[in-house]
Amino acid sequence: MHKTICLLPGDGIGPEILTQGACVLAATAQKFGHIFDFEEALIGGAAVDATGEPLPAETVEKCRKADAVYLSAVGGPKWDAVPPEKRPEKGLLGIRKALGLFANLRPALLLPELAGACLLRPDVAARGLDLIVVRELTGDIYFGEPRGLETRDGLRTGFNTMIYTEEEIRRIAVVAFETARKRRKKVCSVEKSNVLETSRLWKEVVLETHREYADVELSHLYVDNAAMQLVRDPSQFDVILTGNIFGDILSDEASVITGSLGMLPSASLGASGPGLFEPVHGSAPDIAGQDKANPLATILSGAMLLRLGFGLSAEADCIEAAVRRTLADGYRTGDIMEAGKTLVGCEEMGRKVLERL
Ligand code: IPM
Ligand code: MG
Repeated sequence: MHKTICLLPGDGIGPEILTQGACVLAATAQKFGHIFDFEEALIGGAAVDATGEPLPAETVEKCRKADAVYLSAVGGPKWDAVPPEKRPEKGLLGIRKALGLFANLRPALLLPELAGACLLRPDVAARGLDLIVVRELTGDIYFGEPRGLETRDGLRTGFNTMIYTEEEIRRIAVVAFETARKRRKKVCSVEKSNVLETSRLWKEVVLETHREYADVELSHLYVDNAAMQLVRDPSQFDVILTGNIFGDILSDEASVITGSLGMLPSASLGASGPGLFEPVHGSAPDIAGQDKANPLATILSGAMLLRLGFGLSAEADCIEAAVRRTLADGYRTGDIMEAGKTLVGCEEMGRKVLERL
């Protein structure tokens, strides 16, 4: 297979972890006889510094032409003072929108090798945690109009619009049901239909879509209850289907309770065209450039790229197995360090995975 992958190193620890991720992809290609060409483009604060824009047109162009986009992280305190439309985060939101990446898949998994890092009580953790948040990514209050800041009756007033069309809800519900079919066949739809009209429509359309998926069990939770259930007993969840803002919050919660935010990958997919693959964590500016970052979430995002972007399951399995072997052999970056394990830096962690590939 011959494919082009566009790398977006971004900010903070982004460049260091993406270097490791790209090395693992290159080695996997070699092992399985594929050719991956790597392109690179600017996004986030790095793009603001170089061009004045968080998402230069050239970046969108390069991403559109690629077969997959591999991103690390954007943002940092350096750009806190830039105007809102030039914030690094706008680069990320912009590329999601430009590529039509409406489906964000965020698995949260408690690896047996890292059970000691889990933040939950041992009896709760023992029930297991293996879920995936299917988050709508190009609609909701993130993109709804009207939005703005203005003075109303002499008071500074901020406003945003939570909005979904039935079509936007249907297509993400389909992704959730299809994802569940490949897993434990359970979808929990999360909304706030006791208060919000948007959520009432959400629930109605999810129920309609479910008629085509009778083999999948569907349940519903209000978002506040879902946030509580996630820490009380995450083992009850298989696929969590939700909108953009609720999914943003719940996916951070789901990932941090595993105790290893630095481990979790994600995929963002559209109806066609390249998908975008990135770790769930941020750019960690406090440890940037110190060779301390955990590259495993990025490496595992590379596995998702191969599986979901290119349909290369054996190759993806191989990367995931190499990561688990590395952990089983006791190598840890600072964020997941435990007594009795071997502390390694970002580069060495990447090398340990490569050796086990
Ligand atoms: C995420 C992030 C982004 C989001 C930010 C950086 C714009 O929190 O990917 O979850 O809110 O979607
Ligand atoms: Mg987030």
